[in-house]
Amino acid sequence: MNKETPEVLISEEEIQARVLALAAEISSDYRDADELVMVGVLKGSFIFLADLSRRLSIPRTIEFIAVSSYGNGSISSGAVRLVMDVRGNIEGKHVLIVEDIVDTGHTIKYLTGMMKSHRPASVKTAALVRKAESAEVDVTIDYLGFDIGDEWVVGYGLDFAEQYRTLPYIGFVKPTD
Ligand code: IMP
Ligand code: MG
Repeated sequence: MNKETPEVLISEEEIQARVLALAAEISSDYRDADELVMVGVLKGSFIFLADLSRRLSIPRTIEFIAVSSYGNGSISSGAVRLVMDVRGNIEGKHVLIVEDIVDTGHTIKYLTGMMKSHRPASVKTAALVRKAESAEVDVTIDYLGFDIGDEWVVGYGLDFAEQYRTLPYIGFVKPTD
C-alpha cells in the first residue's frame, strides 16, 4: 500500500508560494500584537506549522493540541475529544489555530470553542486545505491555503493510515479496498 507514489494534486512549489503569501498576510494582520500563539493540531499540522511559523516576521510562540474523533478514522463522526491541551497560559493572548485540513468542519469548530474557554484576546484559524463541498457546520477559516474536492489527500503532514506524512507535496491515493 505505502509503496505506491501518490499523484500530485498540489505541488511543493504551489504549497511553498501559498504558505509565503499566508505568512505575509498574517504578519501584516498581527503587526501590532505583542505575541501570536500558534496552536498546531497534532499530528497533521506539524509541517504546515513549521513552514508557516518560520515565514512570519512577527513575535510568535508555538503550542500543540491533540484531538481524537470517535469512530472510524476516515469518516468524521462529528464527535471530537481533546486529548492534549495547550501547556502555556493563553489567557489574554492572540491565538491562531493551525490545522492541516478542514473536512466536515466539526474539529475546527470544536477547537475554536475550546480555545475561547481559555479567554484569549482573540482566536483565528488557519488551514492548509479545505474540502469545501464536505462542510457540515459553518466555520470561518481566516487563512486558507487551498480549496479541494471531496477526495482523500496525503502528504505535507496529512496521512493515510499514518503513511505519506513527509511527502513534500499534497497528493491522492486510491484506497485499495
Ligand atoms: P473534520 O472534523 O471533518 O473537519 O475533520 C478534520 C480532520 O480529519 C483533519 O484534521 C484530518 O485529521 C482528518 N482528515 C479529513 N480529511 C482528510 C484527508 O483527506 N486526508 C487526511 N486527513 C484528513
Ligand atoms: Mg487534523
